[in-house]
Amino acid sequence: MCGIFGIVTEKEEKLGPILIEAARRLTYRGYDSVGAATISGGKIDLRKDVGRVDEVAAKYHLSEMTGQRGITQLRWATFGEPSQINSQPHLDSDGDIVGAHNGNVVNNVELRQQFIAEGMTVRSQNDGESCVHAVERYINKGYDFIEAIRLAYGDLQGDYAFVIGQINDDKLYAIKKGSGLVVGIGEGFTCVSSDLPSLLPLTCTIIRLNDGEIITLWADRVDLRSVRDGAIIDRQPELITEEMSAVQKSGFDHFMLKEIHEQPQAAREVLHMLEGSTDVQTVLDKIKAARHVYFLGCGTSYHACQAGSVYFAQLASKSVIPVVATQFIPQYLPAVNHEDVGIFVSQSGETKDVLNALQAAEASGMTCYGLANVIGSTLTRSTAAWLPLCCGYEISVPATKTFTNQVVTFLYLAYRLGDRDTKELENIPELMEQTIVLTAPQVEALVPSINAWNDLYCLGYGATYAMALEGALKLKEITYAHCEGMLSTEFKHGPLSAVTKDFPILFVAGPQDVPLIVSGLNEVTCRGGRAIAIGEEDERLRANASDVIIIPSSSPMISSLLAVIPLQLLSYQMAVARGYDPDFPRNLSKTLTVD
Ligand code: AGP
Repeated sequence: MCGIFGIVTEKEEKLGPILIEAARRLTYRGYDSVGAATISGGKIDLRKDVGRVDEVAAKYHLSEMTGQRGITQLRWATFGEPSQINSQPHLDSDGDIVGAHNGNVVNNVELRQQFIAEGMTVRSQNDGESCVHAVERYINKGYDFIEAIRLAYGDLQGDYAFVIGQINDDKLYAIKKGSGLVVGIGEGFTCVSSDLPSLLPLTCTIIRLNDGEIITLWADRVDLRSVRDGAIIDRQPELITEEMSAVQKSGFDHFMLKEIHEQPQAAREVLHMLEGSTDVQTVLDKIKAARHVYFLGCGTSYHACQAGSVYFAQLASKSVIPVVATQFIPQYLPAVNHEDVGIFVSQSGETKDVLNALQAAEASGMTCYGLANVIGSTLTRSTAAWLPLCCGYEISVPATKTFTNQVVTFLYLAYRLGDRDTKELENIPELMEQTIVLTAPQVEALVPSINAWNDLYCLGYGATYAMALEGALKLKEITYAHCEGMLSTEFKHGPLSAVTKDFPILFVAGPQDVPLIVSGLNEVTCRGGRAIAIGEEDERLRANASDVIIIPSSSPMISSLLAVIPLQLLSYQMAVARGYDPDFPRNLSKTLTVD
């Protein structure tokens, strides 16, 4: 969701190609507009518009942009429609200062009115422009740039990061408050970005910023200050060892397909980590003693919570309440106290809806733990303890490997809480590999006959209910078809009336639930619908379903995990067959840092 990148070099040079490449590496976050600005001596060159990076770059010849400092921004519209004027970066009133932000300035509307009343030129509705004017306001009053940023910080409410620079200077400045910001230090240049993938091709020497910190970047050095008192902060750079292959497609057509294939290895790594983690016992002891346990997340991460609650009941006789994070405050918060435990689940660790629930839960005395993929994210810095998902980068907007590792983690915790031998879980990576190999051709054969449908259902029961929800979300997210995920037992209570000839209904069948699923299959087929069963080899499924997608045999709970893989592959293949890019679905963002 929005991304910023800035670079400072020793002398004027062709910065366009560097800015375009950085922008490309930020695209996975989701965006609708692209912009770039370069500053050289006394002038600013600003080019921006709605569109994909390559479209805007070609239309405005971004590759030809030169300067000693450069900024690029990808915008995901929140304040103001996607338009050229609302695209970022933005200029101050006189065109001497340029800046761009990532995040959400919640008092943007009031600020714009103030800036206009103070005589500034406000050109857009976008809150990124408010960041620039908030600094301009204090420059106009005679403050130096750092002081102006510190004072602007006091005026700008919300969670954001911005990068800003002015003519007749040799520096860029950036500040972090709630949105990610990482600084890179290279040979003869420094740079700053919303996250690591856009920095890693340039340098592996980085400094991570905390909230309330301002960084000044020269070509050969940086200085870090506290926004509170302006005091220098001494933080040594760290060397990043992640390989660049992690952010490349490595021969796959899309990141999503690559990430589906990375699931077995990611599962291996998370299981290895969990075996060696001392935090696991801490979390389990608290859960054991808790009055109520909540698993909270949004979207895909919520589906993992749903699966986790079934595993805890089935494997450890422990009742857990799975909650969509935003519903936690109205539905449960008034009843929460210090005897309760919450596990907050988020791939990014930055989802605002999850962080809001976390903040409220902590204030009520609840013990809060995190489950996150992005190390250093807000969630990992705000919880009593947290477990990493060990997935490496997940670039594609639709979550795949982070979902399966959330589920694997919950399975592992349930096994441990139920005093079960976790050895059985070591088979998971191998079973996942077999599932990919076995189901990919079955899914491919199915796609042509259902791809014309823009309405589908995906049904599950017990442990497979979460997988049905997740399969439906994946289908909606990247094929743009309407697909409803629900309990198979609920289908007869209303939606059955929608069934017409060949209407495709996917049934995710857990091995222990086959008799129940068989009834559901027949309710659909006898009305002319197409009942597609996903489950282990079973004569009863073959005899009653219109089509079957067979997954390898395992235990009932592991089986539910495997069943999501053909649904991921189905969504992927349908999206590609429809001509859509599954990695960057329209209107969506990988990291949702807004309410
Ligand atoms: C998953 O495919 C979606 N992109 C989305 O539902 C996502 O899971 C949700 O926005 C929560 O994100 P998080 O895990 O980073 O908190």
